Amino acid sequence: MKVLVIGSGGREHAIVKKMAASTLVDEIHCAPGNAGISRQAICHNIPDSDIPGILGLTKQIDPGLVVIGPEAPLCEGLGDILRGEGYRVFGPGNEAAMLEGSKGFAKEVMIAAGVPTAGYERFIEYEVAMSHLSAITFPIVVKANGLAAGKGVIIAEAMTEAEDALRSCFVDRSFGDAGLDVLVEECLVGHECSVLALCDGETILPLEPAQDYKRIYDSDRGPNTGGMGCYSPVPRVPSQLVDEIIETVHRPTIAELARRGIEFRGVLYAGLMLTADGPKVLEFNCRFGDPETQAILPRLENDLVELMLACADGSLADHKLRWKEERCVTVIIASAGYPLTSSKGDIINGLGIDGCLPGVDVYHAGTAEENGQFLTNGGRVLAISALDHSFRAARARAYDAVGKVRFDGMQYRRDIAQEPARGEA
Ligand code: AMP
Ligand code: GLY
Repeated sequence: MKVLVIGSGGREHAIVKKMAASTLVDEIHCAPGNAGISRQAICHNIPDSDIPGILGLTKQIDPGLVVIGPEAPLCEGLGDILRGEGYRVFGPGNEAAMLEGSKGFAKEVMIAAGVPTAGYERFIEYEVAMSHLSAITFPIVVKANGLAAGKGVIIAEAMTEAEDALRSCFVDRSFGDAGLDVLVEECLVGHECSVLALCDGETILPLEPAQDYKRIYDSDRGPNTGGMGCYSPVPRVPSQLVDEIIETVHRPTIAELARRGIEFRGVLYAGLMLTADGPKVLEFNCRFGDPETQAILPRLENDLVELMLACADGSLADHKLRWKEERCVTVIIASAGYPLTSSKGDIINGLGIDGCLPGVDVYHAGTAEENGQFLTNGGRVLAISALDHSFRAARARAYDAVGKVRFDGMQYRRDIAQEPARGEA
């Protein structure tokens, strides 16, 4: 079978590498892909925002499965368009993708479904939002309703910060149209974790939980990023808690969508805060997480293509997930200036390690190739994942590999999985 993967990040490289191990697959295509993905897949230079271009490519390749990685084309309805043409698609349609595309819609669904989440108010008028601030206690969280590439969330400790946040949404228009519709939320306290689950519209199969690191610097300092590292599983989230989260979050959400005539086929990702009152939803994503995928998929024993086809076909109930006992630690290497800016065109040395270090996977995110050399081509450049019997050993293996990579201005966190590794002492 031919398969087509849409996207160009580390997440898509991890999906492509796992698909390459499937006995069902003869040929993997990717649009647009990146320099690393081109080692396992035929890359087509069509951006994932070019919906007519992707449709044309799909017709040309005629794949047995299309996997849509990023949220933007999912929210644009690429899943519906391809399904309408008769293709088997892993990824929800536009209405279900609005769980990520509109934080206000996600809240509405959660409230109707009784899913625990932070209390909130929604505003489309600057003055009304500003006057609301005098009636609340701080800290609070200001969120742009629409997609803002992980940047539209501001935690305000006090009034002046909240006023600045509202001004940047409504007046400066820092998040474009996404910021003209704003949620002001209660600030939740606790540990965060990500619980992703495969869904075929009815059956829900939880993936093992993952711990993302959102801030750029060690000890969770500095601005938020797309994610600087990850580990899986999460000792703090044992399987009974995963089951509780599936029953209190994923199942009622999928059921509420179904009640509205909306089917979710793909991955439903719940970003959660483990509060003193139990797990509460911070956000939904309608897709695999990045870098969660790079820490989850290396531990999956099943054939990923079989599972994705089952999601597309509605036959997930016939499957059971199997996991390696080993722990996985993923370290992101980012370019100079990330997350405020990013640097392109720096030569990356040391990538000869790819495929040479046992237990290590190198996933490309922002890379390009020129004259046989890999160059940086974005904020997050590489994700290095390592498997081992303990977090301590997986961590050592991952950082050993990271130490062999060199490029100007490279930055990475030194504390990924330090906490669970200490817990093993
Ligand atoms: P989101 O894109 O909604 O996941 O928000 C990005 C990050 O902001 C989350 O990973 C949390 O660290 C933080 N965050 C979002 N909402 C809240 C909240 N209600 N309380 C505390 N932190 C939050
Ligand atoms: N790692 C967070 C995300 O994929 O949105």
